[in-house]
Amino acid sequence: MHDNVPIALEVTDVTKRFVKSEGLRWPWKRDGNSRKPVVAVDRVSFQVRRGEIFGILGPNGSGKSTLVRCIATLLLPDEGTIAVFGHDVLREEMAVKRLINRVSVEASFFKKLTPMENLLYGARLYGLEVRAARERILEILARLGLKREDAFRPMEEMSRGMQQKVAIARAFLTQPILLLLDEPTTGLDPRSKREVQTFVVELRNVHDATILLTTHDMQEADALCDRVAVLDEGRIVALDTPTGLKARVARANGHEVTLEDVFMELTGKRLREGEQREG
Ligand SMILES: Nc1ncnc2c1ncn2[C@@H]1O[C@H](COP(=O)(O)OP(=O)(O)OP(=O)(O)O)[C@@H](O)[C@H]1O
Ligand SMILES: [Mg+2]
Repeated sequence: MHDNVPIALEVTDVTKRFVKSEGLRWPWKRDGNSRKPVVAVDRVSFQVRRGEIFGILGPNGSGKSTLVRCIATLLLPDEGTIAVFGHDVLREEMAVKRLINRVSVEASFFKKLTPMENLLYGARLYGLEVRAARERILEILARLGLKREDAFRPMEEMSRGMQQKVAIARAFLTQPILLLLDEPTTGLDPRSKREVQTFVVELRNVHDATILLTTHDMQEADALCDRVAVLDEGRIVALDTPTGLKARVARANGHEVTLEDVFMELTGKRLREGEQREG
């Protein structure tokens, strides 16, 4: 990327802690010091340039969603700053909200309403004209492989993957400038997964969107992302192009290094016994 491309997202020294709730504990074990904070995001800094597809990889609980939620102004960082196209997420929350859109598996919908009703509701929040929105909704849902009749069935009758497609459609409806995709393809069948991936690339290529996505799919990260940050226990342990990351890991057993090898090496996780590869 050239230096004269604007910075879409700038995360500087962001830290987010949570106080673990005590949960169900035995009363006699309760003591004053048990509420230990968890550092979910630990002094994270990076920049994403306009038009980039930037990936975040990391084990479960490494802080990916927390980071995304901080950028989406849903959580306040304890330390550090985040700017979206130069707008500070705390001081200029409304400006930032207009520039971003977030998709996550825990998408909230009116479950008794249909995808069309839910999406029209979302479109109106963004000030889209109803007739144009309706057409665009049908077009996007079709592109994501959802049948036309499914657009008019209650959400609660749909499978998880179908609901996720509706969540993705909602983000794509408003032509966001910075799209935050938290595991957009987790739980989708292979065809749907590819449809979403194609759509993501098209949004960047045709609509000039900048995309930050988290994923557990190493092939997806490799194929889609210009650069990838690997998080482990809240910290960035590596940040590079997929090719650059793979170059850091020595070839083992003569096979081509994959991002999965990089993940294993950098996050210090070992394949559990019984899952170990042969040879
Ligand atoms: N609302 C919360 N209250 C307390 N702790 C939280 C909260 N949200 C996240 N955490 C903790 O912060 C850490 C990071 O969680 P986060 O959801 O960001 O991980 P993740 O990388 O998205 O994981 P996954 O791959 O499973 O989605 C975990 O230790 C988690 O328990
Ligand atoms: Mg997560």
